[in-house]
Amino acid sequence: MTPSSKLPQVGTTIFTRMSALAAEKGALNLSQGFPDFAPDQRLLQRAADAVLHGNNQYAPMTGLPALRGAIAALIERHYQREVDAASEITVTSGASEAIFDAIAALVRPGDEVVLFDPAYDLYEPAVTLAGGQCQRLVLTAPDFRPDWQAFEALLSEKTRLVLINSPHNPTGSCWQSADLDALWQAIASRDIYVLSDEVYEFIHFGQEALSVHSHSELRERSLVVSSFGKSFHLTGWKLGYAVAPAAISAELRKVHQFVTFCTVNPLQQAIAGHLTALPEETFALGPFYRQKRDVLRAALTKSRFKLLPCEGTYFQLLDYSAISDEDDVSFCERLVDEVGVAAIPVSVFYQNPPKGQRLIRLCFAKEEATLIEAAQRLSQL
Ligand SMILES: Cc1ncc(COP(=O)(O)O)c(C=O)c1O
Repeated sequence: MTPSSKLPQVGTTIFTRMSALAAEKGALNLSQGFPDFAPDQRLLQRAADAVLHGNNQYAPMTGLPALRGAIAALIERHYQREVDAASEITVTSGASEAIFDAIAALVRPGDEVVLFDPAYDLYEPAVTLAGGQCQRLVLTAPDFRPDWQAFEALLSEKTRLVLINSPHNPTGSCWQSADLDALWQAIASRDIYVLSDEVYEFIHFGQEALSVHSHSELRERSLVVSSFGKSFHLTGWKLGYAVAPAAISAELRKVHQFVTFCTVNPLQQAIAGHLTALPEETFALGPFYRQKRDVLRAALTKSRFKLLPCEGTYFQLLDYSAISDEDDVSFCERLVDEVGVAAIPVSVFYQNPPKGQRLIRLCFAKEEATLIEAAQRLSQL
């Protein structure tokens, strides 16, 4: 028997496809968003010690108290926000699980959820499984900043949740404080929650770390989701957390409790120890990735690609309209074959991609030699 699919549109993601194609053809893989360099050896040692000598049984459902305490201190350091580690922080299996739990907890059948397109691919399926409907506001190049009047026009009695993501995957754009204010103005008098996906929170290249954590009104309605996978170059650990006022956290925890119950115990011990021993590490992430961004951009200046601004994340968008007018999926397939570089077509992040947009995304969380080699290959086109 074949079940009738609850997610008929969902197939193998482009990330899996492009990574598989890159491996098959021996191409440089700048497609999927993960580092090709080793994480901090001291953190790996802590994990090894925790596996060999620590507690390998179930962790508390909401996360190890030591880790939640270290997360509260991290939020205080970066955002001067005081959070209650016991009732407002929940450790999850990656930011993905936190996002899924939040949507499952808040969205009821018939509810509407506003997304900004291009959007990370997890959001819509999670909303669909909860019985909700996505309303999409399209962001356009080069700055990908929301039109707040158009946003207000999308809101209705049915709107339950707004899903935001800054620094933004795939565009590398970052919201300004005026954007958070405009969002707050639009939802303040309505019964609407905000899910703020901030997995790239420490990877920004401006002065200000702009987060919902720093907005005293918005944060009272919001869940803010973070990822240690992104912040410590360990995407395979799938360790993240959600921060929200106690009443919202309580609902998220009801889902988390039955999705995974708890997250890998020794890895939580390792991160708790690392955060406590090296509290300043996360401040170095912006400069670290700025250097990589600049190496990639400098190596591409003589190419025929146009570089879009990149204010945060480890993604750089390239406009290839001077090179080809084929669609971005075919162009990316050709890149692997002809120059041996795997990239991601930006259209896959949209429900209805803007007509004539010719953009690809490169991940620069790679060794500098890889970035330079990739840029040289792309410059042949
Ligand atoms: C915008 C965004 N949100 C969430 C995630 C998922 O994070 P995690 O690996 O911690 O589940 C990613 C991973 O690429 C992402 O880019």
